[in-house]
Amino acid sequence: MIKLTIDGKEIEVARGTMLLDACRQAGADIPTLCYDPDLRLAGSCRMCVVDVKGRPALVASCVAPAENGMVVQTESDDVVESRKIILELLAARHKFECPTCEKDGDCKLQDYMYRYGVKESRYDGEGPHFGMEDPNPFIERDYDKCIMCTRCVRACDGITGAQAINVKDRGHHAKIAAPFDGKLADSTCVFCGQCIMVCPVGALTSKVAAGKGKPAQNEKVLTTCTYCGTGCTLE
Ligand code: FES
Repeated sequence: MIKLTIDGKEIEVARGTMLLDACRQAGADIPTLCYDPDLRLAGSCRMCVVDVKGRPALVASCVAPAENGMVVQTESDDVVESRKIILELLAARHKFECPTCEKDGDCKLQDYMYRYGVKESRYDGEGPHFGMEDPNPFIERDYDKCIMCTRCVRACDGITGAQAINVKDRGHHAKIAAPFDGKLADSTCVFCGQCIMVCPVGALTSKVAAGKGKPAQNEKVLTTCTYCGTGCTLE
């Protein structure tokens, strides 16, 4: 076992425990976007950064092992500032149509922007705009919402083994694509939906199982919409 101090609280964890797990064990609420406990680690989004005493830079806790004697702050000014900048950068490439998005209310980007009070991005409009891709009967791919966390790629590889998608290009031009930017239907994709399950935003949604496609699970009632304040009565 090793001992470390997280937000002033001394805890003991097994050697080999990742710093993210140790922080959560200490009760810290660490935001994560690319991390998924069922997928191989990527360490790419940096939302999970924490301040480790004596380290020159913030540490991505999901890919760093906890070490004996570490003194960690999970919400220092630097950590909060860093997370805000990351959210602004992600927001630059994310199309916000939350009221009509399938993920509204269950979206990590939405949650974290709210949590850190990020209402707009100073980089707005600088991201790429790929739009909707690939007309297929099962998966809606809206890459104007993709935040490049690569969870879908790692699920397609690590869970299903299909390896139908990967990261294409770099920087602003980077996108998730089937081989040669072709259609999913022409790839090894089996439309299992694992990529949809792990997408933290609304970039991947099901055409057959969600929202508009599941009338059997929706009960129609008369209600007064409060979205804009006009107060229209809708079914
Ligand atoms: Fe740790 Fe993305 S959650 S780097």
